[in-house]
Amino acid sequence: MPEAILDGLRTEVVGRQIHYFERVDSTNAAATSLAQRGAAEGTLVIADEQTAGRGRLGRRWLAPPGSCLLFSLLFRPVLEARRAQGLTMACGLGIREAITAVTNLPAQLKWPNDILLSNRKAGGILTDMHAVGARLDYVVVGIGLNVNLDIAALPASFRATSIRHEVGHTVSRVRLLQQALVCIEERYKALQAGEWPVKEWAAALQTLGQRVQLQTPEGLREGLAEAVDDEGALLLRLDSGRLLRVLVGDIVLQPG
Ligand code: BTN
Repeated sequence: MPEAILDGLRTEVVGRQIHYFERVDSTNAAATSLAQRGAAEGTLVIADEQTAGRGRLGRRWLAPPGSCLLFSLLFRPVLEARRAQGLTMACGLGIREAITAVTNLPAQLKWPNDILLSNRKAGGILTDMHAVGARLDYVVVGIGLNVNLDIAALPASFRATSIRHEVGHTVSRVRLLQQALVCIEERYKALQAGEWPVKEWAAALQTLGQRVQLQTPEGLREGLAEAVDDEGALLLRLDSGRLLRVLVGDIVLQPG
């Protein structure tokens, strides 16, 4: 697998060091432990199967072996810790671009970290970071993508989809990964050069301008998803007229 990924890979840093596991607990956990042992910027940790794949907000991430892309990238950005969401934005935009380049499918993002096809979840991003003072030490961006997943095997309540389901044929995971690494590297370079991707990210968010229900650590909130601010927080206009700034949450329902 690492040989196949490196074969023709057109990146300078991202994905040049590869740790491949047929089976691992979580690629984010493995990448974090490699980061703590000094692994290089751009290190790719990829697995065919995770035994303890992690989703956002403490959830599990389930993916049958042989069908999905499950990987984490290690970054050592020169960036303030409060700017870490920029990495998630850059990776989300890169993934979306790669899906379209390889399959012609229009992919969208959903605040804060979902990747959507035809309004259904096709993937997600989990960002773990470590800061020293106000500066980022390292950031691990974990990406799970339903590539060739047979969605008939999922409970309907999952409301998930896969690239294969949307495009109607099997897609090469290696080709999609290589393209994702190229797109992510380009956006990472731009971020490091001082370009802040929030405008483009906001434009890619399917949820803006709609009424939503939001699960926040403080409970369920409903209102109009009006905008995102510079740091990627969602600005929710409550029915009372008050604007609520939400950094951590999950859109659970889009009424009507
Ligand atoms: C979410 O939508 O909740 C985020 C899911 C992120 C899943 C990926 S799979 C590869 C990486 N390793 C993990 O344990 N999680 C992320």
